[in-house]
Amino acid sequence: MKKYLVIGNPIQHSLSPRLHNHWIKQNNIEAVYEKKQLEEADIQGVISEIKNGKIEGINVTVPFKKSVIPFLDELEHFAKKTQSVNTIYKKKDKIVGDNTDVKGFQYALQHIKYKAKGKKIFILGAGGVTSSIIFALKQLEVSTIMLSNRTKEKADNLKKIYPDLDLIKWGDIKNFDMIINATSLGLKENDKIPINYDQIGSGKFFYDVIYNPKKTNFLLEAEKRGNETENGKMMFAYQAQQAFEMWTGLLPPVNKEALELLEND
Ligand code: ATR
Repeated sequence: MKKYLVIGNPIQHSLSPRLHNHWIKQNNIEAVYEKKQLEEADIQGVISEIKNGKIEGINVTVPFKKSVIPFLDELEHFAKKTQSVNTIYKKKDKIVGDNTDVKGFQYALQHIKYKAKGKKIFILGAGGVTSSIIFALKQLEVSTIMLSNRTKEKADNLKKIYPDLDLIKWGDIKNFDMIINATSLGLKENDKIPINYDQIGSGKFFYDVIYNPKKTNFLLEAEKRGNETENGKMMFAYQAQQAFEMWTGLLPPVNKEALELLEND
């Protein structure tokens, strides 16, 4: 029986096992996908289980997408570029780290036919997923990427990887076409992002990486003022799809059945 794992902290709310086990069953693969909450000190041990064949593949989520890197033998292109790993597997005795968040985000935009080319983008947050979003947007040839984060140091670090980022003070707003919430603000019911929604007005596109709750306060405030909105559900589904393909060579469908598994009970 093959074993796959998603590691993170916290991990209890991860819906990755539901989606991957659905696809495993659909393809009659003898495997199980589990979740495991880790501490930083446990990472090396878990990754070594891929080397000795006890684990087939690992997905990595908050807050370990960067901290797994020293324990890997090689990084694939997107992982190297973004310095962020969410999928790990063995390739010819080497432990390889890859990144499916970049494609996950691009496919999510494609799914809703959003044309990012030439658009002004405003990103809130500089956590684990932000570098993947920036890289994806640059590939789509957006015109400008502005970035705002509460802790300036983390925004500065991203600017070292992406020198043309336009850093904006936390709480300030500049003119944009699309704004992305890549912070964890919105996961809790009373979370509020300190921006002036009235100043933003209408006719923009608001994207939230969060998909549970379906509509964060950020998306509700946007809708109230006549903006388009989209949550992170499709991005999540497509990053999982791409990881599944890397591990098995099979591209599972992101269809109604799969997406229903991501609805909250
Ligand atoms: P990590 O930072 O460990 O990668 P993450 O969940 O990927 O974790 O990222 C959390 C993001 O949400 C960060 O941009 C964080 O801002 P800081 O860098 O200032 O911590 C942001 N965030 C979380 N709580 C926040 C809050 N109360 N106010 C503003 N930003 C917040």
